[in-house]
Amino acid sequence: MTAAYEYETHDYDVVVVGAGGAGLRATLGMAEQGLRTACVTKVFPTRSHTVAAQGGIAASLGNMGPDSWQWHMYDTVKGSDWLGDTDAMEYLAREAPKAVYELEHYGVPFSRTEEGKIYQRPFGGHTTEFGEGPPVQRTCAAADRTGHAILHTLYGQSLKNNAEFYVEYFAIDLIMSDDGQCQGVVCWKLDDGTMHVFNAKMVVLATGGYGRAYFSATSAHTCTGDGGGMVARAGLPLQDMEFVQFHPTGIYGSGCLITEGARGEGGYLTNSEGERFMERYAPNYKDLAPRDYVSRSMTMEIREGRGVGEHGDHIHLNLSHLPSEALAERLPGISESAKIFAGVDVTKEPIPVLPTVHYNMGGIPTNYWGEVLNPTAENPTGIVPGLMAVGEAGCASVHGANRLGSNSLIDLVVFGRAAAIRAGKVVDPEAANPVLNQASVDKAFDRFDGLRNAKGGTPTAELRLEMQRTMQADAAVFRTDKTLKEGVGKMEAIAAKLDDLHVTDTSLVWNSDLMETLELTNLMPNALATIVGAEARKESRGAHAHEDYATRDDENWRVHTVARVEGNKTSLSFRPVITEPLSTEAEGGISLAKIAPKARTF
Ligand code: FUM
Repeated sequence: MTAAYEYETHDYDVVVVGAGGAGLRATLGMAEQGLRTACVTKVFPTRSHTVAAQGGIAASLGNMGPDSWQWHMYDTVKGSDWLGDTDAMEYLAREAPKAVYELEHYGVPFSRTEEGKIYQRPFGGHTTEFGEGPPVQRTCAAADRTGHAILHTLYGQSLKNNAEFYVEYFAIDLIMSDDGQCQGVVCWKLDDGTMHVFNAKMVVLATGGYGRAYFSATSAHTCTGDGGGMVARAGLPLQDMEFVQFHPTGIYGSGCLITEGARGEGGYLTNSEGERFMERYAPNYKDLAPRDYVSRSMTMEIREGRGVGEHGDHIHLNLSHLPSEALAERLPGISESAKIFAGVDVTKEPIPVLPTVHYNMGGIPTNYWGEVLNPTAENPTGIVPGLMAVGEAGCASVHGANRLGSNSLIDLVVFGRAAAIRAGKVVDPEAANPVLNQASVDKAFDRFDGLRNAKGGTPTAELRLEMQRTMQADAAVFRTDKTLKEGVGKMEAIAAKLDDLHVTDTSLVWNSDLMETLELTNLMPNALATIVGAEARKESRGAHAHEDYATRDDENWRVHTVARVEGNKTSLSFRPVITEPLSTEAEGGISLAKIAPKARTF
């Protein structure tokens, strides 16, 4: 029997789910073009996780020395360990300067150089001369609160352009037609318990990553992969989920982020012998090698007995040699975080740090316009009508196997903007909204009701912790056949317990027990796809460091994994990497020879 929930229906041209950097940039771009746009978000927009982004946003403005979008593209290709889609990587690098200048004109208060230009700092893996030259200062910064500055500006601009916000609305499930078109989304309003059906010609998922599938993450507690969960339940796939980025410098214990900008401004890592060990692992890039490389080097130091602290289980990040004025001006946020979360005065002492889950390279497969793909053997680039995904929720795939620091904020705005440009072409404001598939609406309410009244033996918090500990232990920085195989078995057993959940609170108003349960049902398919993809991939590439297969295997594994999760089972297929750039060398693009796969050295 169908659960009886009354609901209000809202018609829009576009509904964006999520109000982080990508969601707001998409919302703004849609609204600017006169599309009737709603942004539905489970937290107040300026509390979205983008607010925590610190170090900056990459774009080859060349304000601090020579730079070019071609160099940026090359670094992104190499950073991705040759798993990124070349069209998307070109689009990112080429559009980045435009997207940043737009942000500046919208009002983002960037830090400035003496001449009043946007200040740019060095970040890991960003170089000159196609990796042959010195590091480049490419990361545009607003001190170490860049995400905060961008988020507030985009929210203000979206309001100015009459976008409508539905704040503290939790998206339960997508509404899909029988022939696979997305028609909207079913939502629960958290503060008064009412139910809402959003009917739209285009739904844009901008729900962020799923860092909270792990025990220790820099991600907010709200990063629960809600878009990926909804997509999986709609029978659509997730891509490249095995690639999980560990940020080298989460504060030991709390996991709170210390920006890579700290090393960009001259900070460095040391082991228990006081040695600047990155000089050994990456003689050229040193502490500014890409994140996968630095995280692995730190882990190796700890494993070999050179970790710091009572248990020898972390590393020191040193900033005290930097002038205190520079720390106050460029890194005020992390100076405060270090004090609060580690009790450390950065002008005097090192910060205890540890590689911490930070970012998901995988997500909902899309093309570089943000259109969601449902790749099959017959149609590897088949588009799901009415559905887009942007930001960390999506997988364009612009970061491949490893994302460069500060390529996330630029991904959010470039692809949020691209989705809006595309929607301006494919969404007809004069056309009627789709006729809703009532069976799909009912199915969402039934699922909601089933969880609301779940009376099994497993409390949500208990199952979540089991999942987080398993992912942390078995899909870690270093992986082996043994840990992954065991991990898959454990995760399948854990996911099966979703049928035995116990929800204590059945009310509809501010029911955090129920909301966390819905979030857990979203985290779980993301986690399953991650560990199953990792177990399948018999090579080491980017963030996937497999100890039984130490090298990259382009012949067999330069492919995207495509995971479909149903219940506690995951089936995998593969999709070719796009190797063609958008423009030829004659058109000013980068030559195919330049970006041909080679060993990734630092
Ligand atoms: O280190 C940081 O500031 C993080 C930046 C990023 O993930 O891009």
